[in-house]
Formats: sequence, C-alpha cells, structure tokens
Amino acid sequence: MSRFKLEPTASMMGASMSWRRVFPGRTDQIPLARQFAMFLFAETSIASDVGFVVTELASNAVRHTRSGQQGGRFTVELVLGGLAYVGVSDLGGGGYPTVRHDPLGCPIESEGGRGLRAVSQLAAMLGVHGSPSEGHTVWADLLCVDKPYEDPPLATSVTPAA
Ligand SMILES: Nc1ncnc2c1ncn2[C@@H]1O[C@H](COP(=O)(O)OP(=O)(O)OP(=O)(O)O)[C@@H](O)[C@H]1O
Ligand SMILES: [Mg+2]
Repeated sequence: MSRFKLEPTASMMGASMSWRRVFPGRTDQIPLARQFAMFLFAETSIASDVGFVVTELASNAVRHTRSGQQGGRFTVELVLGGLAYVGVSDLGGGGYPTVRHDPLGCPIESEGGRGLRAVSQLAAMLGVHGSPSEGHTVWADLLCVDKPYEDPPLATSVTPAA
C-alpha cells in the first residue's frame, strides 16, 4: 500500500471551487441534479450548457447502468473554473459509454445515440474512465470565458503520509 499522500499546491487551492453530490438513481432526480448544477454556475454564461451536460450524463447513468436499479445512485462532480469540469459517476454493469458519430454528416435515423454526441460537440474535452464492473465516470470540460483560465500546476508536492 502506498505510504504517500498528495498535498494540493497553493495554485490548486486557489484556482477553482468544486462540489460533489450523490443522487438516488431515479429519473425524478435528474431535474434536481440539473438544477443543482445550474444554481452553482448561475453567475456564469455556461449555466445552461452545464445543466444540459448533467442532464445527459445523469440520464445515461440511470438508463444504462445499475445506478438506475433499486437502491442505485449516481454522483455529480462539478468544478467551477476557467475550464469547468462536469463528471457523472455510475455503478456500471452495462456496456461502455460510446459516442455515436453520424457517418458522413448524415443524420441518424434511429432513436438514441444523440446524448453523448451533443455533449461532445459542446465540450472542449469529453472523457471516460472506469469499467463496466466498477462503474464509469463520464466527464466533460467546458470553457468558461467568465473565469480566468489557469494552467494546471506543473508539479504537485508529495510528502510521506503520517
Ligand atoms: N454511463 C454509461 N454506462 C454504460 N453505457 C453507456 C453510458 N452512457 C452511454 N452509454 C452507452 O453509450 C450509448 C450512447 O449514449 P447516448 O447518450 O449518446 O445515447 P442514448 O442514451 O442511447 O440515447 P439518447 O439520444 O436518448 O441520449 C448508449 O446507447 C449506451 O449504450
Ligand atoms: Mg443518452
């Protein structure tokens, strides 16, 4: 087991604010997650974009994973900064989050597959980590021009854990 812990540097501490909230994995919680995110980003110009992304990612968690089953939950993480972060973690159990691109720019006739594609078009970056067994976190970075963007710190101090 690692005996090291990460300590935030001064620039990490001052650069942004972050929130994390767990919601029961039910469809009636999706509007609440959206409102939670929009409230926190209310002073920015990307509040509705953040609300949209939370809605799409939370909907996927409830619809496509164990988060939507009895007793399930999903977690929303938000970071407000020059590059805003929106992440939704689920309980896995389904497949893999997949961005379905429309080939040759033709609209897709079938239902579905629009959510992650729309998020990818809105986001500066879209990513996934995790696995079907442990659950995925699907995240998006959104440029927030209202907030000065700070480059991430080049180095993080590492000290032995007590
Ligand atoms: N969190 C997730 N865990 C596992 N699979 C996922 C997850 N999110 C999305 N997927 C998979 O990726 C596919 C594409 O997701 P996407 O949100 O683009 O479309 P959709 O949810 O099927 O339909 P909609 O257009 O209503 O959003 C889904 O059909 C599903 O198979
Ligand atoms: Mg979807």
